[in-house]
Order: sequence, then C-alpha cells, then structure tokens
Amino acid sequence: MVKVIIGCQWGDEGKGKVVDLMSQDADVVVRVQGGANAGHTIVAGDQKFVLHLIPSGILNPKTVCVIGNGVVIDPDALSEELELLKKLGVDVTGRLLISNRAHIVTVEHKQQDQKNEQSASRKIGTTGRGIGPAYRDKVSRVGVRVVDFMKKDHRFDAFIADTGAYLNQAIRDKKKIIMEGAQGALLDVDHGTYPYVTSSNTTAGGASTGSGIGPTKIDHVIGIAKAYTTRVGEGPLPTELPEAEGNALREKGHEFGATTGRPRRCGWFDAVVVRYACDINGIDELVITKLDVLDYLPVIKICVGYKDQKYFPADIDMLAAAEPVYEDLPGWQTSTTSVRRFEDLPAAAQAYIQRMETLIGVPVKLISVGAERNQTIEKN
Ligand code: IMP
Repeated sequence: MVKVIIGCQWGDEGKGKVVDLMSQDADVVVRVQGGANAGHTIVAGDQKFVLHLIPSGILNPKTVCVIGNGVVIDPDALSEELELLKKLGVDVTGRLLISNRAHIVTVEHKQQDQKNEQSASRKIGTTGRGIGPAYRDKVSRVGVRVVDFMKKDHRFDAFIADTGAYLNQAIRDKKKIIMEGAQGALLDVDHGTYPYVTSSNTTAGGASTGSGIGPTKIDHVIGIAKAYTTRVGEGPLPTELPEAEGNALREKGHEFGATTGRPRRCGWFDAVVVRYACDINGIDELVITKLDVLDYLPVIKICVGYKDQKYFPADIDMLAAAEPVYEDLPGWQTSTTSVRRFEDLPAAAQAYIQRMETLIGVPVKLISVGAERNQTIEKN
C-alpha cells in the first residue's frame, strides 16, 4: 500500500503531525522533493523536533526513512540533523536510506540563493537554503549527485543506497509506504503561483519522479489543508487578513516559519485554492489541521470564489488582483482541543467542515485540534 501526503496550500499545513500519526503503522516513509527549506515540527510528549531533511517518520523506531532521488541534500544540514537525533536518543542505524541519485546542495548554491534574494528586482522570499540554484544545476546537467559526492566525502556512506530499487522491492513485499510531500501544491514550480514558488514539483506527480515508484503503484493521495490559510515569503495571498486580524490569528496559531522563524502571513480558508490543489493532485481525501485555532472567532469567513474568475488564474497579476467572494459562517467560541469525535464538535464547527467538503468536492476524513497525536478526530 502506497500513500502520498500532499500539502494543499502554501506549505506549513501540519503535514509533519499527520505523517507522524500515519507512520505509526507504516514500514517506510519517503521524502521525495525539496531540501532543507522544509521544516516539519513534531511534538512528542514534552520533546519538540524540527526536521528539515530526514522524514518525520524517523520518530517511529519500526519505520525505515528514505530520502529519495528528487531531494536536494545539503550535507552540513544533514550532519546537523543526524547529530540532533543522536542527542535526542533517536537511533537511525539501519533505518535511514539516502538515494545515490539525489543531488547535493553546495555552499555556493546557498551563497547564490542569498545573493539573488538581495539583488533581485522581484524578490521571492526564499528560505536561503540554496534550493533554486541546486535544482538549476540539476536540470542544466552540471549538478553533483550523491553517487559522485561519496567518492570524496564518506560521512554518509552507511546510509547511501539505490532507494528506487529498495522501494520497488518493498512494494513487492507488500510493505506500507508513505510518501511525504514537502512545501505545498501552490508552491509547485509548474502548478503553483509562479514565480513565487519553490523549484521542485511539490504535487503528487513529483512523488513518482522523486522516488522511483511508478504512478500505477500509488494507491492513495491524501491532501492536508489548514482550517485557514498561511503563506511565508512573497507572492499573492488572495484571502490575506488585514494586519490586526492577521496578527491575532498568527499568535493563536503560532504561525512562525519552522526553518527561518519568519512570521507567516495569515488569511481565511480559500476553497478555490484547495479545490485547485485537489484537482492537480488527484486528492482522495482531506485532513483539516488546526481547527482549534479558530475557536476564538465570532464569525469565520470562507472564500467560495474569486469575482469574475472561473479558474485559479495562471497570471500572477490576475491572482494578485483577485477579489475573494466570502461566505460568513458563525464561529463556535468554545474550545475544541479535547474533542475526539466529530459528533462532539460544536454544531458550527461541524457546519464549517461540511461547507468545505461541499465547496471542494472531496471528503474530510481527519481533523486535527492540537499538536499532540491524540488531538485528532476521525470523520466518516
Ligand atoms: P525556496 O524553496 O527556499 O527556494 O523558497 C521559495 C518559496 O517557497 C518561498 O516563498 C519560501 O518561503 C517558500 N517555502 C519553501 N519551503 C517552504 C516550507 O517548507 N514551508 C512554507 N514555505 C516554504
């Protein structure tokens, strides 16, 4: 069984918690694209982890974690992460496999990324982790792959493998595999809000090319969306809240970047964005995260369309000018953090989720109401 987990907004949807939860019974968890630009925060008991490269499934002692060929690897960031896991008492021996076909992020890539950001007339607001320059070199056919890197640097020899071959054997052995997308669909280099995107395919198609698992072997694609919208870096965010309201939501939701610490821009839930994301990924079911963050609001807006626009616009200027059409839904103004069954949610919270399902046309199967694993509601 192969499942793909994809962010349906601009990243930071809370994929880390969902992957952690789903990897409880998974044999293998795979990262397929991106690099140390990602930051997955996981809370387990009183310990807080931020993982950038190593899949969050590493916390489960029975899970094998794979860094697939589609990932770009910063060797220093990887070393630091291995060190951190060691300090936290997480044993990765025999449980971490790194693709020999993945590409390396060099010191020069990082310097160039940071320099580009300072001098560009149109700033992207990158994480400065060298992602764009590393992928540029990869497609220009001048990149350095792990298989070349290991001829000179032996730090990771014990982990390097032909991960495509490993994964295809795991499929033949009927293992449970979870492929973990980094960033979100709207940051996809093809389908996202170009040029304000990252440099990889963050959508479900990238899971195939980034792992060596063919599309016919993927059984299920799960989309993660936050109960509202956030974005880090530059680029249009049609439902962005005015400063005071945005600040309040940011504080409630602790919306600060896991990698850069930057404050995330906050907005209302945008059903146009999530519907588009569900289409381009072939999402089978949705997980809605951080519903509890909205507990304080008397009225909750949901964007049901953009005025005079039929499709999610490709033209970035049209998206920047998009006028969201909102519906006002009543808030519930009571804590949902200890609710564990959908029927026990306040009626207004149930109605909010049901409205999302109708607008998007995809069922919601899981709702998260807090950072802890057990703060999760299954919905039929
Ligand atoms: P890059 O991936 O560092 O090149 O950054 C390109 C854009 O993607 C910027 O707007 C970043 O803020 C955004 N981005 C990259 N990684 C993440 C992530 O993990 N979460 C949210 N935004 C991200």
